[in-house]
Amino acid sequence: MTTQPLCLPTVYLNGAYMPIEEAKISPLDRGFIFGDGVYEVIPFYAGRGLRAVEHLKRLQRSLDELDIANPYPIEKWLSVIGTLIERNGGGDIAVYIQVTRGVAKRDFPPPQGLTQTVFLMANKLATPKPELYENGIACVSLDDSRWLRCHVKATALLGAVLLKHESTQAGADEVVLFRDGYLTESSASNIAAVKDGVILCPPLDNLILAGITYELMIELARKNHLPLEVRRVHRREVKKADELWIMSSTKEVVPIVKLDDKPVGHGENAGRPGPVFKQMRALFNDYKRNLPAEPVLKAAE
Ligand SMILES: Cc1ncc(COP(=O)(O)O)c(C=O)c1O
Repeated sequence: MTTQPLCLPTVYLNGAYMPIEEAKISPLDRGFIFGDGVYEVIPFYAGRGLRAVEHLKRLQRSLDELDIANPYPIEKWLSVIGTLIERNGGGDIAVYIQVTRGVAKRDFPPPQGLTQTVFLMANKLATPKPELYENGIACVSLDDSRWLRCHVKATALLGAVLLKHESTQAGADEVVLFRDGYLTESSASNIAAVKDGVILCPPLDNLILAGITYELMIELARKNHLPLEVRRVHRREVKKADELWIMSSTKEVVPIVKLDDKPVGHGENAGRPGPVFKQMRALFNDYKRNLPAEPVLKAAE
């Protein structure tokens, strides 16, 4: 087994930057004991964030759902992120943020007044290789067995881990999840279907995460007059779809070309990335090339 670096060398833990090897937390951290925490993954291209502020707003929403106070104002988050990127040499980087409720005697009720644990690390942004956009991925359909608060980006991810494990064991790249017969999302990405030129997007409710990439794609589609419906999408429609895509901050938008061992799509596009995907990918690339400046601040500390 080749040993890969765990992450880029410098991390941030509770107010200090340090080598990953020196970062230590208590085993009584409620993040470790209960998965009692939230996280974010923010993509940066040449130091410029793709909707970093939106990610930080979602972090706030996730913290609110768990009744954990946000330890930092947004300016401080941006400052810490800016410094972390700088100390890891810049470039295309995925910044991982985790906030847990903190350290306490092991007991279920969350105690008041704990000091949150704040951890940030950086990884090279490993967006998929060009071949993947050409060839697409294979998925299996599974019943969505996760909890009913999938809109919270919680670190308790065992449901997703086991579903992903099941797809790997089935020889697939990813899962397409259904709850009560309707499409939800994938293990760590959103899903859209295309039928007769119309992009079909499941609504943002408690059953899926409001993906920043997903919301951007919807925005780009609307701005460019691509037909789009936000509504529940039945399993039957997914099975008959002309196209399926997954979307996330690290995958961007990737076509699903095979579902349950059958090619997605029809005619000459069966089992191949479809025309609407290609349009969307071009729009996304265009957006990425011209990323609006966001206020990633230099270290104030
Ligand atoms: C369950 C789930 N859905 C969707 C997404 C995509 O979200 P984003 O586009 O903000 O990365 C993620 C990302 O990790 C996820 O874990």
